[in-house]
Amino acid sequence: MAQDVNHPIGVFDSGVGGLSILKDIRAQLPYEDLIYVADSAHLPYGTKPAAYIQERSLMIAKFLVARNVKAIVVACNTATAAAIRTLRMRYTFPIVGVEPAVKPATCMTKTGVVGVLATNSTLSSDKFSNLIDRFGRSAEIIVQPCPGLVEQVEKGELSTDATRDMLKLYLGNLMSRGVDTIVLGCTHYPFLLPVIESLVGPEVQILDTGKAVAQELTRRLGADQMLAARTERGSEEFWTSGITSEVAKRIVALWGREVTVRALLEIGRTR
Ligand code: DGL
Repeated sequence: MAQDVNHPIGVFDSGVGGLSILKDIRAQLPYEDLIYVADSAHLPYGTKPAAYIQERSLMIAKFLVARNVKAIVVACNTATAAAIRTLRMRYTFPIVGVEPAVKPATCMTKTGVVGVLATNSTLSSDKFSNLIDRFGRSAEIIVQPCPGLVEQVEKGELSTDATRDMLKLYLGNLMSRGVDTIVLGCTHYPFLLPVIESLVGPEVQILDTGKAVAQELTRRLGADQMLAARTERGSEEFWTSGITSEVAKRIVALWGREVTVRALLEIGRTR
């Protein structure tokens, strides 16, 4: 089917973390229809091999394409690192990914030491190594994998003692090395910002990528003259491969509005 400016934009993540990106997209592009997929049955991506994440990303893209999307946002650092090349080889419409904000962090640091919180999979990817090769010369980059944090956000434990203890450990490792700028390299982590800020104090700058991703999406659609041409606000549709009632509770809590979440049934293999 030919692309139309009023076709929706697809956005996906392993779970609810990508809602942190969806919020910025909605703020910047009020007239677009948005379809969000939470691949909750296959979460976390951060401990899975790249081939598995590629397979999941292709299946979700196939589902979104069947719903006529005009662009896809991979609202997950882990899936971007593992699968964005594969997706771009398959589809010609804009596919926008998320990567840790290392470059701006190296410009902002005063101590010359930057910390990056991310999943194991993101930190061990070639894409991340390339990022460090390009920008890691102007500052020291300390990486900190954060096993368990994604699951805490998925459970809705944004500020419980268990979450706080995990963050104390991970942030403590960074702070003891003189970090003054911390990059949130996973789209789940912005939901932990109040606790992170309370633990590191006001002197430390914390960067996430939601606004930059929304800007890049706007730029790409604008360049292709594919921005929605309507004056009423766009809609949001939510889908999950997980248990819809459970995921709906989490989405309502994080999105801040009542929503209907539909079941994403397995949609056949992509290859
Ligand atoms: N939100 C994903 C990211 O940005 C989480 C990955 C996971 O499921 O482990 O990396």
